[in-house]
Amino acid sequence: MKTKIFSIIALLFLALVSCSNKQIKAEVKHPKILVVYFSQGGNTRMLASTIKESIGGDLFSIEPTPSYPSGDIHDLVQKQIDKGTLPVLKTKVKNLNSYDAIFVGTPNWFNNISLPVKAFLKENKLTGKNVIPFATFGGSAGNTLTDIAGLCPHSIILEGFSVSGDDIKNNPQVVKKNVRIWLDKIKTKF
Ligand SMILES: Cc1cc2nc3c(=O)[nH]c(=O)nc-3n(C[C@H](O)[C@H](O)[C@H](O)COP(=O)(O)O)c2cc1C
Repeated sequence: MKTKIFSIIALLFLALVSCSNKQIKAEVKHPKILVVYFSQGGNTRMLASTIKESIGGDLFSIEPTPSYPSGDIHDLVQKQIDKGTLPVLKTKVKNLNSYDAIFVGTPNWFNNISLPVKAFLKENKLTGKNVIPFATFGGSAGNTLTDIAGLCPHSIILEGFSVSGDDIKNNPQVVKKNVRIWLDKIKTKF
């Protein structure tokens, strides 16, 4: 009799454990991540790659057509800003809707978001998505992070990250460490 009762209790216990394991498995989230960026000189590309290496996901480079020449493009960009035109973009993200969290990265151009990233955000409404802005700059981030947030009025904006191009080139290990600290803070939120 005792053995029977013991066996029933053991079976019930095993059933409970397996049930709670299933629940735990069902609760583990695997958010689909996209890291979108534009980079003319390579700094924002390096930051985007560091983010992708640290958290995973897909990388998408915004490519305007015609592409910007290498070297100093201040005058060219200023003319485009004066004209009020946005660059035409070469490619589109496939299955944009399947992503849960979208990192959006831009260089600082005259204290604001770069024109290709502005064009991307005007073409792609990231409604309902977690959007995480990031930026690189020469002197300061200016309005870049808030510009990205402003162009995503129906998204959930999480804390962004910005760093100077000099730090990316000269202190990549420090940048990597700071990126990891930032990602650890925000990754529980999506
Ligand atoms: C057209 C243009 C305007 C810029 N304006 C600013 C600025 O206002 N403030 C700033 O700190 N850096 C400015 N920069 C420097 C870039 O933000 C910085 O070099 C950035 O890291 C470049 O990113 P990339 O290498 O990914 O293109 C400007 C660069 C360009 C090309």
